[in-house]
Amino acid sequence: MARFNVYPLAQRFSGQISVPGDKSISHRALMLGMISKGEMSIEGLSMCEDVIHTKQACVDLGIDIQTDGNKTYVRGHGLYGVIATDKRIDCGNSGTSLRLFAGLLSGQSKSLTLVGDESLHRRPMKRILDPLQTMGANIEGRVDGEEIYPPLHIKNTDALSHIDYTLPVASAQVKSTLLLASLYAQQNSLIVEPILSRDHTERMLCYLGAPVLFQKTPRTIIMQVSSWNRELLPNPISIPGDISSAAFIIAAAVITQSSVTISNVGLNPLRKCFLDALRKSGACIEEELVSQENMEPRGNIVVHKNKNRQSFVLNRQEVASCIDEIPILAIVAACSLGESQFYGVEDLEFKESNRIKTIQDMLSNFSVSSKYHDGILSIDGIGEQLFSKATIQTQGDHRIVMAAAIASLRANGVCTITHADSVDTSFPSFALTLQKLGVEIQAH
Ligand code: S3P
Repeated sequence: MARFNVYPLAQRFSGQISVPGDKSISHRALMLGMISKGEMSIEGLSMCEDVIHTKQACVDLGIDIQTDGNKTYVRGHGLYGVIATDKRIDCGNSGTSLRLFAGLLSGQSKSLTLVGDESLHRRPMKRILDPLQTMGANIEGRVDGEEIYPPLHIKNTDALSHIDYTLPVASAQVKSTLLLASLYAQQNSLIVEPILSRDHTERMLCYLGAPVLFQKTPRTIIMQVSSWNRELLPNPISIPGDISSAAFIIAAAVITQSSVTISNVGLNPLRKCFLDALRKSGACIEEELVSQENMEPRGNIVVHKNKNRQSFVLNRQEVASCIDEIPILAIVAACSLGESQFYGVEDLEFKESNRIKTIQDMLSNFSVSSKYHDGILSIDGIGEQLFSKATIQTQGDHRIVMAAAIASLRANGVCTITHADSVDTSFPSFALTLQKLGVEIQAH
Protein backbone atom coordinates (compact mmCIF):
# COMPACT_ATOMS: atom_id res chain seq x y z
CA MET A 1 0.00 0.00 0.00
CA ALA A 2 1.75 3.19 -1.18
CA ARG A 3 2.08 6.26 1.02
CA PHE A 4 2.65 9.88 0.15
CA ASN A 5 5.40 11.88 1.80
CA VAL A 6 4.52 15.55 1.42
CA TYR A 7 6.93 18.37 2.24
CA PRO A 8 5.84 21.80 3.46
CA LEU A 9 5.69 24.20 0.50
CA ALA A 10 9.05 25.96 0.26
CA GLN A 11 7.99 28.58 -2.27
CA ARG A 12 4.61 29.83 -3.47
CA PHE A 13 3.65 28.38 -6.83
CA SER A 14 2.24 29.97 -9.92
CA GLY A 15 1.20 28.01 -12.99
CA GLN A 16 -1.40 26.67 -15.36
CA ILE A 17 -2.70 23.11 -15.31
CA SER A 18 -5.62 21.02 -16.51
CA VAL A 19 -7.41 18.15 -14.79
CA PRO A 20 -8.91 14.87 -16.10
CA GLY A 21 -12.49 14.69 -17.41
CA ASP A 22 -15.40 15.00 -15.01
CA LYS A 23 -16.06 11.67 -13.30
CA SER A 24 -19.82 12.12 -12.85
CA ILE A 25 -20.33 13.12 -16.48
CA SER A 26 -18.03 10.29 -17.68
CA HIS A 27 -20.15 7.61 -15.95
CA ARG A 28 -23.32 9.03 -17.45
CA ALA A 29 -21.85 9.37 -20.96
CA LEU A 30 -20.86 5.68 -21.00
CA MET A 31 -24.17 4.48 -19.58
CA LEU A 32 -26.34 6.59 -21.89
CA GLY A 33 -24.07 5.76 -24.85
CA MET A 34 -24.70 2.11 -24.01
CA ILE A 35 -28.49 2.47 -24.37
CA SER A 36 -28.56 4.96 -27.24
CA LYS A 37 -28.94 3.75 -30.81
CA GLY A 38 -25.72 4.00 -32.85
CA GLU A 39 -22.14 5.07 -32.25
CA MET A 40 -21.59 7.82 -29.69
CA SER A 41 -18.24 9.60 -29.57
CA ILE A 42 -17.11 10.81 -26.16
CA GLU A 43 -14.22 13.25 -25.91
CA GLY A 44 -12.24 13.65 -22.69
CA LEU A 45 -13.58 10.63 -20.79
CA SER A 46 -11.98 10.30 -17.36
CA MET A 47 -9.55 7.38 -17.06
CA CYS A 48 -9.90 7.12 -13.29
CA GLU A 49 -10.59 3.74 -11.70
CA ASP A 50 -14.27 4.45 -11.01
CA VAL A 51 -14.93 5.24 -14.66
CA ILE A 52 -12.81 2.29 -15.82
CA HIS A 53 -15.20 0.10 -13.79
CA THR A 54 -18.22 1.63 -15.53
CA LYS A 55 -16.54 1.15 -18.90
CA GLN A 56 -15.69 -2.51 -18.19
CA ALA A 57 -19.24 -3.05 -16.91
CA CYS A 58 -20.60 -1.75 -20.25
CA VAL A 59 -18.29 -4.19 -22.07
CA ASP A 60 -19.49 -7.01 -19.79
CA LEU A 61 -23.01 -5.97 -20.77
CA GLY A 62 -22.15 -6.73 -24.40
CA ILE A 63 -21.31 -3.20 -25.60
CA ASP A 64 -18.44 -2.52 -28.00
CA ILE A 65 -16.23 0.34 -26.78
CA GLN A 66 -13.17 1.56 -28.70
CA THR A 67 -10.64 4.21 -27.71
CA ASP A 68 -8.63 6.40 -30.07
CA GLY A 69 -6.50 9.02 -28.32
CA ASN A 70 -8.76 11.32 -26.32
CA LYS A 71 -11.90 9.89 -27.92
CA THR A 72 -13.99 6.92 -26.85
CA TYR A 73 -16.58 5.35 -29.14
CA VAL A 74 -19.55 3.51 -27.61
CA ARG A 75 -21.76 1.47 -29.90
CA GLY A 76 -25.18 1.33 -28.27
CA HIS A 77 -27.93 -1.05 -29.32
CA GLY A 78 -30.87 0.93 -27.97
CA LEU A 79 -32.75 0.97 -24.68
CA TYR A 80 -33.11 -2.81 -24.51
CA GLY A 81 -29.90 -3.83 -26.30
CA VAL A 82 -27.87 -4.91 -23.30
CA ILE A 83 -26.72 -8.55 -23.15
CA ALA A 84 -25.20 -9.66 -19.86
CA THR A 85 -22.14 -11.60 -21.04
CA ASP A 86 -20.97 -11.73 -17.44
CA LYS A 87 -23.59 -12.11 -14.72
CA ARG A 88 -21.47 -10.31 -12.13
CA ILE A 89 -21.02 -6.63 -12.87
CA ASP A 90 -18.11 -5.30 -10.79
CA CYS A 91 -18.44 -1.61 -9.82
CA GLY A 92 -15.24 -1.51 -7.72
CA ASN A 93 -15.28 1.46 -5.33
CA SER A 94 -17.84 3.40 -7.33
CA GLY A 95 -21.20 4.15 -5.70
CA THR A 96 -22.28 6.10 -8.78
CA SER A 97 -21.69 3.07 -11.05
CA LEU A 98 -23.55 0.67 -8.81
CA ARG A 99 -26.53 2.90 -8.06
CA LEU A 100 -27.00 4.17 -11.62
CA PHE A 101 -26.61 0.69 -13.13
CA ALA A 102 -29.23 -0.57 -10.65
CA GLY A 103 -31.74 1.90 -12.12
CA LEU A 104 -30.68 1.34 -15.70
CA LEU A 105 -30.71 -2.46 -15.56
CA SER A 106 -33.84 -2.96 -13.44
CA GLY A 107 -36.12 -2.40 -16.41
CA GLN A 108 -34.21 -4.58 -18.88
CA SER A 109 -35.55 -8.10 -18.23
CA LYS A 110 -32.10 -9.41 -17.39
CA SER A 111 -30.80 -11.34 -14.39
CA LEU A 112 -27.48 -10.20 -13.01
CA THR A 113 -25.64 -9.17 -9.86
CA LEU A 114 -23.98 -5.83 -9.11
CA VAL A 115 -20.94 -6.17 -6.83
CA GLY A 116 -18.18 -3.87 -5.59
CA ASP A 117 -15.20 -3.67 -3.27
CA GLU A 118 -15.31 -3.89 0.52
CA SER A 119 -16.01 -0.17 0.94
CA LEU A 120 -18.85 -0.21 -1.60
CA HIS A 121 -20.38 -3.23 0.15
CA ARG A 122 -20.70 -1.08 3.29
CA ARG A 123 -22.69 1.66 1.54
CA PRO A 124 -26.48 1.91 2.03
CA MET A 125 -28.75 0.89 -0.84
CA LYS A 126 -32.21 1.08 0.74
CA ARG A 127 -32.44 4.63 -0.61
CA ILE A 128 -32.56 3.22 -4.16
CA LEU A 129 -34.14 -0.17 -3.51
CA ASP A 130 -37.30 1.21 -1.86
CA PRO A 131 -38.34 3.37 -4.83
CA LEU A 132 -37.12 0.84 -7.42
CA GLN A 133 -39.20 -1.90 -5.76
CA THR A 134 -42.17 0.50 -5.74
CA MET A 135 -41.72 0.70 -9.51
CA GLY A 136 -41.95 -3.09 -9.65
CA ALA A 137 -38.23 -3.81 -10.04
CA ASN A 138 -37.15 -7.28 -9.01
CA ILE A 139 -34.04 -6.20 -7.11
CA GLU A 140 -32.69 -7.30 -3.75
CA GLY A 141 -29.59 -6.78 -1.64
CA ARG A 142 -28.00 -8.05 1.55
CA VAL A 143 -30.28 -7.08 4.44
CA ASP A 144 -28.57 -6.16 7.70
CA GLY A 145 -30.88 -4.77 10.37
CA GLU A 146 -32.79 -1.81 8.91
CA GLU A 147 -30.38 -1.27 5.99
CA ILE A 148 -29.67 -3.03 2.70
CA TYR A 149 -26.18 -3.35 1.17
CA PRO A 150 -24.61 -4.72 -2.04
CA PRO A 151 -24.33 -7.13 -3.73
CA LEU A 152 -27.57 -6.28 -5.53
CA HIS A 153 -29.33 -9.07 -7.40
CA ILE A 154 -31.53 -8.02 -10.29
CA LYS A 155 -33.97 -10.52 -11.78
CA ASN A 156 -36.25 -10.42 -14.82
CA THR A 157 -39.12 -7.94 -14.60
CA ASP A 158 -41.80 -7.55 -17.27
CA ALA A 159 -42.09 -3.77 -17.24
CA LEU A 160 -41.61 -1.07 -14.65
CA SER A 161 -44.41 1.14 -13.39
CA HIS A 162 -44.01 4.88 -13.16
CA ILE A 163 -43.25 6.60 -9.86
CA ASP A 164 -44.22 9.86 -8.13
CA TYR A 165 -41.49 10.30 -5.57
CA THR A 166 -40.00 12.91 -3.28
CA LEU A 167 -36.42 12.00 -2.43
CA PRO A 168 -35.87 11.65 1.33
CA VAL A 169 -32.17 12.60 0.91
CA ALA A 170 -30.45 15.16 -1.29
CA SER A 171 -28.72 12.76 -3.66
CA ALA A 172 -27.89 13.01 -7.34
CA GLN A 173 -27.23 9.29 -7.37
CA VAL A 174 -30.71 8.39 -6.10
CA LYS A 175 -32.32 10.94 -8.44
CA SER A 176 -30.35 9.57 -11.40
CA THR A 177 -31.18 5.94 -10.53
CA LEU A 178 -34.87 6.82 -10.71
CA LEU A 179 -34.56 8.92 -13.86
CA LEU A 180 -32.84 6.02 -15.62
CA ALA A 181 -35.38 3.48 -14.38
CA SER A 182 -38.17 5.86 -15.51
CA LEU A 183 -36.98 5.45 -19.10
CA TYR A 184 -38.34 1.89 -18.87
CA ALA A 185 -41.70 2.77 -17.23
CA GLN A 186 -44.99 2.64 -19.13
CA GLN A 187 -46.20 6.04 -17.89
CA ASN A 188 -44.77 9.39 -16.89
CA SER A 189 -42.79 9.62 -13.64
CA LEU A 190 -42.40 12.61 -11.37
CA ILE A 191 -39.37 13.07 -9.12
CA VAL A 192 -39.10 15.86 -6.55
CA GLU A 193 -35.83 16.92 -4.90
CA PRO A 194 -35.77 18.36 -1.37
CA ILE A 195 -32.52 20.20 -2.16
CA LEU A 196 -30.99 20.64 -5.60
CA SER A 197 -28.24 18.18 -6.46
CA ARG A 198 -25.98 17.95 -9.52
CA ASP A 199 -28.11 17.74 -12.67
CA HIS A 200 -25.78 16.02 -15.16
CA THR A 201 -28.23 13.17 -15.81
CA GLU A 202 -31.10 15.53 -16.67
CA ARG A 203 -28.90 17.67 -18.91
CA MET A 204 -27.53 14.68 -20.78
CA LEU A 205 -30.91 12.99 -21.17
CA CYS A 206 -32.34 16.21 -22.67
CA TYR A 207 -29.34 16.53 -24.99
CA LEU A 208 -29.87 12.96 -26.22
CA GLY A 209 -33.55 13.53 -26.90
CA ALA A 210 -35.24 12.01 -23.83
CA PRO A 211 -38.53 13.64 -22.75
CA VAL A 212 -37.37 15.38 -19.56
CA LEU A 213 -39.48 18.30 -18.31
CA PHE A 214 -38.74 20.59 -15.36
CA GLN A 215 -40.97 22.46 -12.96
CA LYS A 216 -39.35 25.04 -10.75
CA THR A 217 -41.14 25.06 -7.41
CA PRO A 218 -40.78 22.63 -5.84
CA ARG A 219 -37.96 21.40 -8.00
CA THR A 220 -39.66 18.61 -9.96
CA ILE A 221 -38.50 16.52 -12.89
CA ILE A 222 -41.06 14.83 -15.11
CA MET A 223 -40.06 11.95 -17.37
CA GLN A 224 -42.72 12.14 -20.05
CA VAL A 225 -42.13 8.71 -21.57
CA SER A 226 -45.74 7.96 -22.57
CA SER A 227 -45.40 9.91 -25.84
CA TRP A 228 -41.74 9.07 -26.51
CA ASN A 229 -40.35 6.81 -29.25
CA ARG A 230 -37.98 5.16 -26.70
CA GLU A 231 -34.82 6.07 -28.57
CA LEU A 232 -31.82 8.02 -27.33
CA LEU A 233 -29.73 9.76 -30.00
CA PRO A 234 -25.98 9.00 -29.99
CA ASN A 235 -25.07 12.71 -30.05
CA PRO A 236 -21.35 13.43 -29.51
CA ILE A 237 -20.34 14.33 -25.98
CA SER A 238 -17.37 16.41 -24.90
CA ILE A 239 -16.49 16.18 -21.21
CA PRO A 240 -14.97 19.16 -19.36
CA GLY A 241 -12.33 18.81 -16.61
CA ASP A 242 -13.54 17.67 -13.21
CA ILE A 243 -14.10 20.59 -10.85
CA SER A 244 -14.00 18.14 -7.92
CA SER A 245 -10.40 17.25 -8.87
CA ALA A 246 -9.53 20.88 -9.61
CA ALA A 247 -10.81 21.70 -6.11
CA PHE A 248 -7.70 20.22 -4.49
CA ILE A 249 -5.32 22.30 -6.60
CA ILE A 250 -7.43 25.44 -6.16
CA ALA A 251 -7.48 24.96 -2.38
CA ALA A 252 -3.71 24.33 -2.39
CA ALA A 253 -3.22 27.73 -4.05
CA VAL A 254 -5.64 29.43 -1.65
CA ILE A 255 -4.06 28.13 1.56
CA THR A 256 -0.48 28.81 0.42
CA GLN A 257 -1.14 32.25 -1.11
CA SER A 258 -0.11 30.91 -4.50
CA SER A 259 -1.75 31.48 -7.86
CA VAL A 260 -2.93 29.00 -10.46
CA THR A 261 -5.08 28.77 -13.58
CA ILE A 262 -7.03 25.60 -14.31
CA SER A 263 -8.14 25.39 -17.90
CA ASN A 264 -11.22 23.72 -19.38
CA VAL A 265 -13.09 22.83 -16.19
CA GLY A 266 -16.81 22.13 -15.87
CA LEU A 267 -18.64 25.15 -14.45
CA ASN A 268 -22.05 23.59 -13.85
CA PRO A 269 -23.81 25.89 -11.32
CA LEU A 270 -24.63 22.90 -9.12
CA ARG A 271 -20.96 21.87 -8.92
CA LYS A 272 -19.11 25.16 -8.52
CA CYS A 273 -20.52 26.23 -5.17
CA PHE A 274 -17.09 25.23 -3.84
CA LEU A 275 -15.70 28.39 -5.48
CA ASP A 276 -18.26 30.55 -3.65
CA ALA A 277 -17.34 28.85 -0.38
CA LEU A 278 -13.69 29.76 -0.98
CA ARG A 279 -14.69 33.34 -1.82
CA LYS A 280 -16.52 33.50 1.52
CA SER A 281 -13.21 32.58 3.11
CA GLY A 282 -11.56 35.56 1.39
CA ALA A 283 -10.13 33.89 -1.73
CA CYS A 284 -9.92 35.82 -4.97
CA ILE A 285 -11.11 33.52 -7.76
CA GLU A 286 -12.25 34.37 -11.28
CA GLU A 287 -14.28 32.21 -13.62
CA GLU A 288 -13.86 32.65 -17.37
CA LEU A 289 -16.79 30.99 -19.13
CA VAL A 290 -15.52 29.61 -22.45
CA SER A 291 -18.49 27.63 -23.74
CA GLN A 292 -22.04 26.57 -22.89
CA GLU A 293 -22.25 24.09 -25.73
CA ASN A 294 -22.69 20.37 -25.51
CA MET A 295 -24.95 20.48 -22.43
CA GLU A 296 -22.46 21.57 -19.76
CA PRO A 297 -20.86 25.01 -19.24
CA ARG A 298 -17.06 25.00 -19.11
CA GLY A 299 -14.25 27.50 -18.73
CA ASN A 300 -11.10 28.46 -16.88
CA ILE A 301 -10.69 29.10 -13.18
CA VAL A 302 -8.10 31.67 -12.15
CA VAL A 303 -6.96 31.77 -8.53
CA HIS A 304 -5.15 34.97 -7.59
CA LYS A 305 -2.74 35.27 -4.73
CA ASN A 306 -4.65 36.36 -1.63
CA LYS A 307 -3.87 36.80 2.02
CA ASN A 308 -6.72 36.93 4.49
CA ARG A 309 -8.77 33.89 5.16
CA GLN A 310 -11.76 34.16 7.43
CA SER A 311 -14.13 31.56 8.80
CA PHE A 312 -17.27 30.81 6.81
CA VAL A 313 -20.64 29.06 7.10
CA LEU A 314 -22.25 26.77 4.51
CA ASN A 315 -26.01 26.08 4.63
CA ARG A 316 -27.64 22.78 3.61
CA GLN A 317 -28.08 23.74 -0.05
CA GLU A 318 -24.46 24.89 -0.27
CA VAL A 319 -23.22 21.69 1.35
CA ALA A 320 -25.30 19.59 -1.09
CA SER A 321 -23.76 21.51 -4.00
CA CYS A 322 -20.23 20.79 -2.85
CA ILE A 323 -20.74 17.48 -1.06
CA ASP A 324 -17.52 15.98 -2.45
CA GLU A 325 -15.51 19.08 -1.53
CA ILE A 326 -16.24 19.00 2.21
CA PRO A 327 -12.94 17.22 3.07
CA ILE A 328 -10.86 19.88 1.31
CA LEU A 329 -13.10 22.71 2.54
CA ALA A 330 -12.50 21.39 6.05
CA ILE A 331 -8.79 22.03 5.44
CA VAL A 332 -9.49 25.55 4.14
CA ALA A 333 -11.64 26.17 7.24
CA ALA A 334 -8.79 24.89 9.43
CA CYS A 335 -6.46 27.48 7.84
CA SER A 336 -8.98 30.30 8.43
CA LEU A 337 -9.33 32.34 11.56
CA GLY A 338 -12.36 31.50 13.74
CA GLU A 339 -15.07 28.87 13.68
CA SER A 340 -16.45 27.64 10.34
CA GLN A 341 -19.65 25.61 10.16
CA PHE A 342 -21.07 23.17 7.62
CA TYR A 343 -24.81 22.45 7.96
CA GLY A 344 -26.42 19.21 6.78
CA VAL A 345 -23.33 17.02 6.39
CA GLU A 346 -24.96 13.88 7.88
CA ASP A 347 -24.86 11.95 4.59
CA LEU A 348 -21.05 12.14 4.62
CA GLU A 349 -21.20 9.17 6.99
CA PHE A 350 -22.11 7.01 3.98
CA LYS A 351 -19.43 8.00 1.48
CA GLU A 352 -16.28 6.03 0.52
CA SER A 353 -15.43 6.19 4.22
CA ASN A 354 -17.40 7.58 7.15
CA ARG A 355 -16.19 11.04 6.15
CA ILE A 356 -17.40 12.76 9.28
CA LYS A 357 -15.05 10.54 11.25
CA THR A 358 -12.17 10.54 8.75
CA ILE A 359 -12.32 14.36 8.45
CA GLN A 360 -12.36 14.80 12.22
CA ASP A 361 -9.52 12.30 12.71
CA MET A 362 -7.46 14.04 10.02
CA LEU A 363 -8.01 17.47 11.60
CA SER A 364 -7.20 16.19 15.06
CA ASN A 365 -3.92 14.68 13.78
CA PHE A 366 -3.03 18.09 12.38
CA SER A 367 -3.86 19.54 15.89
CA VAL A 368 -7.05 21.26 14.75
CA SER A 369 -10.18 20.84 16.84
CA SER A 370 -13.63 20.18 15.42
CA LYS A 371 -17.08 19.21 16.67
CA TYR A 372 -19.90 17.28 15.07
CA HIS A 373 -23.44 17.43 16.35
CA ASP A 374 -26.84 17.02 14.73
CA GLY A 375 -25.62 17.24 11.15
CA ILE A 376 -23.42 20.29 11.79
CA LEU A 377 -19.63 20.10 11.49
CA SER A 378 -17.80 22.99 13.21
CA ILE A 379 -14.08 23.58 12.74
CA ASP A 380 -11.88 25.84 14.86
CA GLY A 381 -9.53 27.43 12.37
CA ILE A 382 -5.94 28.17 13.38
CA GLY A 383 -5.36 31.03 10.92
CA GLU A 384 -1.74 31.64 9.98
CA GLN A 385 -0.34 28.97 12.31
CA LEU A 386 1.10 25.79 10.79
CA PHE A 387 -0.41 22.33 11.18
CA SER A 388 1.48 19.82 13.32
CA LYS A 389 3.33 17.35 11.12
CA ALA A 390 1.46 14.07 11.14
CA THR A 391 0.83 10.65 9.69
CA ILE A 392 -2.73 10.58 8.41
CA GLN A 393 -4.69 7.32 8.25
CA THR A 394 -7.10 7.78 5.38
CA GLN A 395 -9.12 4.52 5.38
CA GLY A 396 -8.39 4.35 1.63
CA ASP A 397 -10.74 7.26 0.90
CA HIS A 398 -9.35 9.12 -2.15
CA ARG A 399 -10.72 12.52 -1.14
CA ILE A 400 -9.27 12.24 2.37
CA VAL A 401 -5.87 11.29 0.90
CA MET A 402 -5.88 14.37 -1.34
CA ALA A 403 -7.19 16.74 1.34
CA ALA A 404 -4.51 15.55 3.78
CA ALA A 405 -1.79 15.92 1.13
CA ILE A 406 -2.83 19.53 0.46
CA ALA A 407 -2.95 20.34 4.19
CA SER A 408 0.60 18.99 4.49
CA LEU A 409 1.84 21.95 2.41
CA ARG A 410 1.17 24.07 5.51
CA ALA A 411 2.57 21.70 8.13
CA ASN A 412 5.63 22.24 10.30
CA GLY A 413 7.37 19.14 8.89
CA VAL A 414 7.08 16.29 6.41
CA CYS A 415 3.73 14.49 6.60
CA THR A 416 2.90 10.91 5.62
CA ILE A 417 -0.44 9.99 4.10
CA THR A 418 -1.57 6.35 3.92
CA HIS A 419 -3.31 4.64 0.96
CA ALA A 420 -1.79 7.06 -1.57
CA ASP A 421 -2.79 4.76 -4.44
CA SER A 422 -6.49 5.36 -3.75
CA VAL A 423 -6.19 8.73 -5.58
CA ASP A 424 -6.56 6.57 -8.73
CA THR A 425 -10.26 6.29 -7.83
CA SER A 426 -10.87 9.82 -9.14
CA PHE A 427 -7.62 11.69 -9.95
CA PRO A 428 -4.74 9.38 -11.00
CA SER A 429 -2.49 12.32 -11.99
CA PHE A 430 -2.91 14.10 -8.62
CA ALA A 431 0.73 13.84 -7.48
CA LEU A 432 2.09 14.57 -10.95
CA THR A 433 -0.04 17.71 -11.22
CA LEU A 434 1.26 18.98 -7.87
CA GLN A 435 4.85 18.13 -8.85
CA LYS A 436 4.43 20.24 -12.02
CA LEU A 437 3.60 23.17 -9.76
CA GLY A 438 6.77 22.60 -7.73
CA VAL A 439 5.24 20.70 -4.80
CA GLU A 440 7.45 18.02 -3.24
CA ILE A 441 5.23 14.94 -3.01
CA GLN A 442 6.60 11.42 -3.26
CA ALA A 443 4.79 8.11 -3.37
CA HIS A 444 6.70 5.21 -1.83
C1 S3P B 1 -22.43 11.71 -7.53
C2 S3P B 1 -23.27 12.14 -6.56
C3 S3P B 1 -22.85 12.36 -5.17
C4 S3P B 1 -21.35 12.45 -5.05
C5 S3P B 1 -20.65 11.38 -5.81
C6 S3P B 1 -20.98 11.48 -7.28
C7 S3P B 1 -22.95 11.49 -8.89
O1 S3P B 1 -23.32 11.29 -4.37
O2 S3P B 1 -20.99 12.37 -3.68
O3 S3P B 1 -19.24 11.49 -5.67
O4 S3P B 1 -22.15 11.36 -9.84
O5 S3P B 1 -24.17 11.46 -9.03
P1 S3P B 1 -24.77 11.33 -3.64
O6 S3P B 1 -25.78 11.42 -4.70
O7 S3P B 1 -24.87 10.02 -2.91
O8 S3P B 1 -24.73 12.51 -2.73
